[in-house]
Amino acid sequence: MSETLSRTNLSREHSVKRVFHPMAHPNDMDAMPPRVISRGEGVYVFDDAGHKTVDAGAGLWNVNLGYSNHAIKEAIASQLEELPYYSAFKGSTNERLIELSHTLAEWLEPENIKRFFFTSGGSDSVETALRLARQFWKLQGQGDRIKFLSLKRGYHGTHFGGASVNGNSTFRRSYEPLLPGCFHVAVPFDYRNVFGVSDAERLTDLCLAALEDEIQFQGGDTIAAFIAEPVLGAGGVIVPPPNYWPRLKALLDRYGILLIADEVITGFGRTGSWFGCRGWGVQPDLMCLAKALTCGYFPLGAVAIGERVERAFKADNSAMGTISHGYTYSGHPVGCAAALACLRETAALDVVTTARREGDYLLAAFRGMADRFETIGNVRGKGLMMAIEVVSDRAVKTPAGKTYMAALAKATYEAGALVRVLGHTIILSPALVIKRHECDEIVAALQAAFAAASGDPAS
Ligand SMILES: Cc1ncc(COP(=O)(O)O)c(C=O)c1O
Repeated sequence: MSETLSRTNLSREHSVKRVFHPMAHPNDMDAMPPRVISRGEGVYVFDDAGHKTVDAGAGLWNVNLGYSNHAIKEAIASQLEELPYYSAFKGSTNERLIELSHTLAEWLEPENIKRFFFTSGGSDSVETALRLARQFWKLQGQGDRIKFLSLKRGYHGTHFGGASVNGNSTFRRSYEPLLPGCFHVAVPFDYRNVFGVSDAERLTDLCLAALEDEIQFQGGDTIAAFIAEPVLGAGGVIVPPPNYWPRLKALLDRYGILLIADEVITGFGRTGSWFGCRGWGVQPDLMCLAKALTCGYFPLGAVAIGERVERAFKADNSAMGTISHGYTYSGHPVGCAAALACLRETAALDVVTTARREGDYLLAAFRGMADRFETIGNVRGKGLMMAIEVVSDRAVKTPAGKTYMAALAKATYEAGALVRVLGHTIILSPALVIKRHECDEIVAALQAAFAAASGDPAS
């Protein structure tokens, strides 16, 4: 047995026996041990048996530049040599942190972003944004504004704040009671909604009417912020109608409510715009960033702080304006070096154009598949962020069962693509450097899997 194999066997053993894996029941992992991913190259990953697949999820929507970006690896290595760590708490900073904050300010000039708070990932960024929103209102002398509104089906990470604004009971039930003062409203999802409408304009009208009703019920002057993803990710890639965000922003403005755009997935090109909110023509007050900021090469996130929020902090001379919030790894020099390299590469490779072009291509291919396979109920997406919703009965949209979905995922993997399955939905979010023939490999693998899928789709 090669040294690599014996090491791999050891880690698989450890995973099942010694690890609580995220988003998994430990006993399910015992029954179906996790795949060991041993190597990555370009848009491909290889398991410990050497099986090669296109990583159609780019890790967790984050490895936007693929696995072989030498510029990022070199930036990390050289920063490790120079300064592997120092704190950014009061009294110190580091060169990469300064550089990154200025680079990001240039990227986010159209959003009128003035400052950044650095974190270790998306959940930290959401937590930070929620806390800053509350602090903002205290600084404004409106301490009653403590509530948060968000969308049903939204996903905002797993800290208590994020879980409280999450719009899916899966992430909430086991951890309740959550943060008081969080309320959820209907998401404009044209395939499934309580209003029974699919017309985009009408759906926006109805969802915003429901939101305004909730604002008035709660009292507009008790609400700190509304948080949403410009395109919902983990909720099943829900793309709001084009007029939703501009009208949402106008409605929030009427009540003075802050808008937090959770751009953890949509930031840096994934939707075919550099930022999701830019694609909708909206300037948020706070933006949560992570994932593609370092493309998975190092854990780093950030909250981008708009002019309105910055102004409140600048105007304050009391202790209330102190940012009594921070992480040991806020502004980590290695993370910042990785992000700087990542941003340079992201711009140089013009990933936004690839996202748009290859996203359109894949979406058309999946829609073509829907003509062939009855179990495809809905195909949707924006840029390189797509979903295929699988049903056992198209007419009434009955979700496909767990066994069927597991079989589909397995068959897709065997046919050469690694896809993520969330409930009865296949999620696709490949790297933004994907080439046409690699897209074709994803389509071919899915086609083979749907063709091979036998058994009861309801099971
Ligand atoms: C929109 C959104 N917000 C927040 C998070 C949490 O990020 P992390 O897993 O890095 O904590 C995620 C993770 O997928 C996300 O999709």
